[in-house]
Amino acid sequence: MMPLEKFEILLKRTMGLDIQSIGRPMLERALQERCGSCGIDELDAYWLLLQVSEREQLQLIESVIVPETWFFRNREAFIEMTHLLPQRPLSGGQPLRILSLPCSTGEEPYSIAMALLDAGLSPRHFRIDAIDISQRSLDIARQAVYGKNSFRGDFLTFRYKYFALNEQGYALSETVRQQVYFMQSNLFAADLLAGQVPYDIIFCRNLLIYFDRAIQHQAVTILLQRLAPEGLLFVGPAESALMTQHALTQVKAPMSFAFRQGAPAQELAKPAAPPATAVFTRQPPMSLLRPRSRPAAERIIQEKQEKIKASADTAPALLPQTTLATAQLLADQGKLSEAANLCEQLIQRHGASAALYYLMGVVHDAADRKQAATDCYRKVLYLEPAHAEAMTHLAALLQVQGDFAGARLLQQRVRRSTES
Ligand SMILES: C[S@@+](CC[C@H](N)C(=O)[O-])C[C@H]1O[C@@H](n2cnc3c(N)ncnc32)[C@H](O)[C@@H]1O
Repeated sequence: MMPLEKFEILLKRTMGLDIQSIGRPMLERALQERCGSCGIDELDAYWLLLQVSEREQLQLIESVIVPETWFFRNREAFIEMTHLLPQRPLSGGQPLRILSLPCSTGEEPYSIAMALLDAGLSPRHFRIDAIDISQRSLDIARQAVYGKNSFRGDFLTFRYKYFALNEQGYALSETVRQQVYFMQSNLFAADLLAGQVPYDIIFCRNLLIYFDRAIQHQAVTILLQRLAPEGLLFVGPAESALMTQHALTQVKAPMSFAFRQGAPAQELAKPAAPPATAVFTRQPPMSLLRPRSRPAAERIIQEKQEKIKASADTAPALLPQTTLATAQLLADQGKLSEAANLCEQLIQRHGASAALYYLMGVVHDAADRKQAATDCYRKVLYLEPAHAEAMTHLAALLQVQGDFAGARLLQQRVRRSTES
């Protein structure tokens, strides 16, 4: 057996990690670091320590995890969640039960809480359990003070509403913090959530990509056992294609990557609009909106599309930034063909752009056009070789298409690019 192989097997057995997904160099560095901290020179001696110390096993796990996360990551999932909520708590039933696993440093469960509060739920209407294997990440989550890296993209209105800037960073308000209950656990722990009532909503995003096919299957089975029969499972964009191998139906809400149990024929209709007295709103929560209202945004899209048509020969080119946002908005609204068409028009007009090809790739992915999505992601990487999101999405597509070696190479590139 190669010297590192037994460590790889141990990590797969304990946390499900497929070392190919993060690359061997990462494991080598982690082992070096841990040997250094324990004052051990020999790998064999460190191996013996791991056999007797559960604490050291957890330390090794801390050194190989990828805690990357940010607020409202893939924000369409949060919008769609507020659209699909059951009405039960409003009619005096039990509060909604939501699970965020893995929650990493807390940005995901706190985003869920902000979205639900903005959608009009009162704090007593829902509870969020948040689980991660990493104690270090959970300590940060409980502290709830965040740096700039946790806030990405253009949709940051929620920061003004729910955070106060202090010397340490952006401190989250108590109203949001008290909705989330953190707990350290391993997805594969035999006693995970033992005796708990099933969840209405489970977020398990950006974890399955670190597992091989067999472990992914095991993980999804565990999650489905903890999901209520009518519940919703949200996964990451790069994991969506993998879900089609399970008896799950993708909710017809593009870009949210939400699934229900059951074959497609049994898909449930979206719940009807809530009665006038209900506190849920069908509008996207405030924290997710751009500063302008949707109708205004739609008008602007129409004007821009007309402008693009009319200006083909005469007017100067539109600014790519504005038009990219327009295409993104169309995609967010589920107008996938329009979004893809606009991207193509813009590429013809402004030339190839990684951002446009990436958006077009995500749109094709959401519409299950695998080959078109693959082509777009490849173009992104030709234009911008370090585009981590395109690599991650392409890796997931290659895996589904059976190109495991190609998928692995890309996952390793992602790993290297996020480390540098
Ligand atoms: C990339 S983060 C994803 C966080 C968040 N869900 C998101 O999408 O932004 C992956 C997290 O998975 C956690 N993790 C890895 N293996 C795990 C396991 N077997 N059980 C629970 N958490 C695990 C890591 O500690 C890390 O915080």
